[in-house]
Amino acid sequence: MSVKTAIIGGTGVYDPQILSGVREERITTPYGPAKVVVGSYRGREIAFMARHGADHSVPPHLVNYRGNIACLKELGVKNIFATAAVGSLNKDMKPGQYVFVDQFLDFTKGRPSTFVEEGVVHLDMTEPYCPGLRGILAGAAEKLGLEFHRGGTYVCTEGPRFETMAEIKMFRQLGGDLVGMTSVPEVVLAREAGICYAAIAMVTNFAAGISAGKLSHQEVVDMMAENAEKLRSLIMQAILDLDGDRHCSCHLAAGEEPVRVGRG
Ligand code: HPA
Repeated sequence: MSVKTAIIGGTGVYDPQILSGVREERITTPYGPAKVVVGSYRGREIAFMARHGADHSVPPHLVNYRGNIACLKELGVKNIFATAAVGSLNKDMKPGQYVFVDQFLDFTKGRPSTFVEEGVVHLDMTEPYCPGLRGILAGAAEKLGLEFHRGGTYVCTEGPRFETMAEIKMFRQLGGDLVGMTSVPEVVLAREAGICYAAIAMVTNFAAGISAGKLSHQEVVDMMAENAEKLRSLIMQAILDLDGDRHCSCHLAAGEEPVRVGRG
């Protein structure tokens, strides 16, 4: 059975737990090695990748985004549900709520952010997050009675530091709703590889200057831990609701063929 669906677990999501018959796959990609766990859930083969490593040792600016997506591509993955802890800039998007992000603003600086190394490819990015997967997530969240938003603009910063008050004010003026450090280039590489990608952003805090006092990584981790069970149910419900064989325009992202992943 092929692996059609993958979960990329962000901060606080390091273990698929619910999968059975789990095996570890180590794949050497042209961008370096990547590790993924594959197991089954109610007759579906699912891959799980811990974005920051199983022990959260890799910070957001040093994640091997290309290696991770190339690894999932190699496994034959067509759909990715990625979790992301985020700060909120929008008073209506509150800690504990989920946002199925639909847009991003890219404020990253020094990350390898494309598979394109030859030829001229300008990929359409009008809708970076797969509308089909976002709809499935919204349906699943409704079934489970979770508090969620159907869309929101994710501002991706370089990190690893949190933002200044002035930066958050600026991001808000530019139309940002959420701030985090990982969705770009992950979502872009998935589109280049012709893989549908949806982000499940979990609001852990109000961003700098909106929250009272200083921010800490610990409060983000604590909030994710508090909500881990709900998040797991949401992902698993979405996986049950997903037809792994569905066709989507994300699969033919760069014209007729996806961008070639790898140099070989
Ligand atoms: N800023 C950036 N990344 C984050 C935040 C934040 O406030 N909260 C969780 N991830």
